[in-house]
Amino acid sequence: MSGRKGPFKGRTVAVVDDLSLDEQRYLYRKARELKEELRSGGEGRAFRVDDRDYAAYLVFMEDSTRTKESFRNAAKFCGCRTDVFDTATSSFNKNESIVDTMKMLYGYSDESCYVIRSKLEGVCRALDDALGRYAELTGRAKPAFINAGDGKHEHPTQEFLDEFSFLEQLGWRDERIHLALTGDLYHGRTAHSKADGLRVFKEAKVDLVAPELLGMPEHYVDKMRDNGYEVTCFESLDEYLASGQVAPIWYFTRLQLERMGESVLEKSKLLREAVTFRKDMLGKLPEGTRFYHPLPRDRLSPTNPTFLDELPLNGWDGQSANGYWTRIVLIGMVSGLLGADFEGEPKAERRFEDDFVAEAAPERRVKPEYKVGIRPVEEGIVIDHVSSGQPIGEIWGHVDAIRRMLKLDVRGSHGVYHNNQGTYKGIISLPDVTSFGGRELKKLAAIAPGCTLNLIRGHQVAKKYRLSMPPRIYNFDEISCKNPSCVSHPSHLEGIAPEFTRKGESVFVCRYCEREHRYREIWDV
Ligand code: NCD
Repeated sequence: MSGRKGPFKGRTVAVVDDLSLDEQRYLYRKARELKEELRSGGEGRAFRVDDRDYAAYLVFMEDSTRTKESFRNAAKFCGCRTDVFDTATSSFNKNESIVDTMKMLYGYSDESCYVIRSKLEGVCRALDDALGRYAELTGRAKPAFINAGDGKHEHPTQEFLDEFSFLEQLGWRDERIHLALTGDLYHGRTAHSKADGLRVFKEAKVDLVAPELLGMPEHYVDKMRDNGYEVTCFESLDEYLASGQVAPIWYFTRLQLERMGESVLEKSKLLREAVTFRKDMLGKLPEGTRFYHPLPRDRLSPTNPTFLDELPLNGWDGQSANGYWTRIVLIGMVSGLLGADFEGEPKAERRFEDDFVAEAAPERRVKPEYKVGIRPVEEGIVIDHVSSGQPIGEIWGHVDAIRRMLKLDVRGSHGVYHNNQGTYKGIISLPDVTSFGGRELKKLAAIAPGCTLNLIRGHQVAKKYRLSMPPRIYNFDEISCKNPSCVSHPSHLEGIAPEFTRKGESVFVCRYCEREHRYREIWDV
């Protein structure tokens, strides 16, 4: 093992938010130091890992030029062993799971990081979980996984170089940014990562310029607003320029035709026109405007055409070079080399309270509906208030789902009854069941939040528990993420166990791809 012990050692960066704001600021500060040092003839010694036993694997399962090359050059600068894993001829094509492949690579070096680009959304989170457990089991250093773009999800390292470029442009002042985001905001992961990345500015005003079909997905717009940004939407550059409130920093993105369905492709010419900059628009820009683009741009019909290349507007060439500095620093951080001079809030781990069961005061009497056939329950369990207030059909569905999912193939009865509010609720009476394990309880809370569990002893309700929606739903066979691009989607056979965390009342977010689901959507029954 190396002696490197920096606080970021082995940290996975699957999304921007995997680094706290202070950690992101640290990355920008170090990248600035490095750039200035090298530009003034220095060697950047403090940024070189200089360890041939530290391996940086580049695993690119989707095309890439800039991200791959800047990481390759960054790893070389750092003095790590750099391996480019050839996915075209690997055993992925023999149905090997990605976890197995990574375990194999992990076996070849003492300490390592993996830079991964994939169509599978959430792949770095899934690998971090699986290899993290494996590292613990084998008593070895935990590897770091760096997301170099996962499907339509996020592209955190592009975000770091983008924010670095914006800060540089603004003279390192982070009070406020006014940014126009335009192009394919629907498919563009670099645009999605802005929902968290722009938080580095104390104030952000974001103008989203895209026709509806290329519009920013709703949950990213919500996230931007939750993060306090002022967000305004426009359908085209013409509409935007006519608004009179034009941003001095523009971020263009390419139309990602390779990700579009047939119906959108047919309209691509019109869509492209709405977000392509024309010569006659030049006069409508505020003084000193800068254009950025993650690149590549389409050489046949770029949204930021070549007539702009030699104007002072061109920020994208310098932006792409900034990928080198920010990625050297990121490798330095996750390898444990950098970080001794970090000050501020580290990323807090999210903790989940298992507070979904609350003991309630039992009414002593047993309600007349608590019965099996015509006999009241003497001893046993009664599940009451199932889906109270919901449409009758749904209540029956939930009653049935509870029976099947908890495998309650025992004597009992169930029904739909009036509740006190003049609507309906489901009841399941189980005279032969005398206890419920923690896992069953959790499952019950997850299927029928709001229900109560009554323990009946000698014709009386001895104990009563009110179950609410758990903060996390996982470890059940009957749930799955419904995003076909998610690494945990059953169609990929990657064996990644689905997991959802609750957001607000009843929205559940996939642990891997972060797709939001309505509560009922996560269940397969
Ligand atoms: C982007 C990507 O791959 O998400 N490019 C990049 O990483 N520099 C944007 C794109 O492909 O259009």
